[in-house]
Amino acid sequence: GFLVDVGRHFFSVDYLKEVIDMLALHNINYFHWHLTEDQGWRIEIKKYPKLTEIGSYRKETIVAPGSDQFDNTPVSGYYTQEEAKEIVRYAAERYITVIPEIDMPGHMLATLASYPELGCTGGPYEVWRQWGISDNVLCAGNDQTIQFMKDVLAEIVDIFPSEYIHVGGDECPKTQWEKCPKCQALYKKEGMKEPGELQDYFTRKMSEYIRSKGKIMVGWDEINDRHAATPEDMLTVWRDNGLKAQKAALERGIPVVMCPQHGCYLDWGYAGNSTRKVYEWDPVTSQVTPEQEALVKGGQGALWTERVATQDRVEWMLYPRLAALSEVFWTNASKRNWDD
Ligand code: ACM
Ligand code: ZN
Repeated sequence: GFLVDVGRHFFSVDYLKEVIDMLALHNINYFHWHLTEDQGWRIEIKKYPKLTEIGSYRKETIVAPGSDQFDNTPVSGYYTQEEAKEIVRYAAERYITVIPEIDMPGHMLATLASYPELGCTGGPYEVWRQWGISDNVLCAGNDQTIQFMKDVLAEIVDIFPSEYIHVGGDECPKTQWEKCPKCQALYKKEGMKEPGELQDYFTRKMSEYIRSKGKIMVGWDEINDRHAATPEDMLTVWRDNGLKAQKAALERGIPVVMCPQHGCYLDWGYAGNSTRKVYEWDPVTSQVTPEQEALVKGGQGALWTERVATQDRVEWMLYPRLAALSEVFWTNASKRNWDD
């Protein structure tokens, strides 16, 4: 697979079709479409129009981490449901399945800016003009929040025929939950022992709902930190070199797609993930037993777009590393030869 983040920067339908053509050329058969971020919500949801009216517009962007300077340049855009279906159709003609991701309960500031009642403090919030991890996440102790996300997912499963639906789950700070009366009430009611269990509660609700729609929930490997993931779910493993999270998942019989940031994150510069490093990485490591091998469904590259705003930049980051990834995914390690 290959992930493209359209939350941090927006790319047109026509350009995504070009990307899909290039994925097809490289035998990549899943397009993981990262549709929502702190910095922008990019998919039309009919029941909640403010998600795109408010959430798809970022006023400006910080010029560098920690700076107090902003670039005074708006970033906006979203895909209508018809456009998203057009992408699904275009990809399917090229034997590519589109997996949508709605990243929750963290990375949700664009949602909170649109519907502040879904946050622990009630806001006000803004579509984030900075990069990083925000403390402002969805309120886990509010039934209304859970219902809202189910409503969103109901529309998502109607747009995307993929059997896999990704609900994020990465990088979710618990600081607001520790202060929030609603979250604390749920915490006590459920007899929880640590704030992370609030995220697990949320994850399980989403997993049950997605399963009720006949689909499989996919989450980032954090959702398995306290075992909220089950063998009926799937993980995209991204942290570090992926080894720790892969082991933890396979021991519990949970399928994984390997996309460790070391090796698979093509938003990293060529100094951090050189073409050679990408080429020499492998989703099936020596720690995977023969019995576990079938649980390693494959690998996935990722292009996060905080620092990727133009098509030229996308292509600079992708090639030749996408070709290297393609060979990693489809050729036995014993047959790969960097010098050759
Ligand atoms: C991630 O890179 N936060 C999945
Ligand atoms: Zn709360």
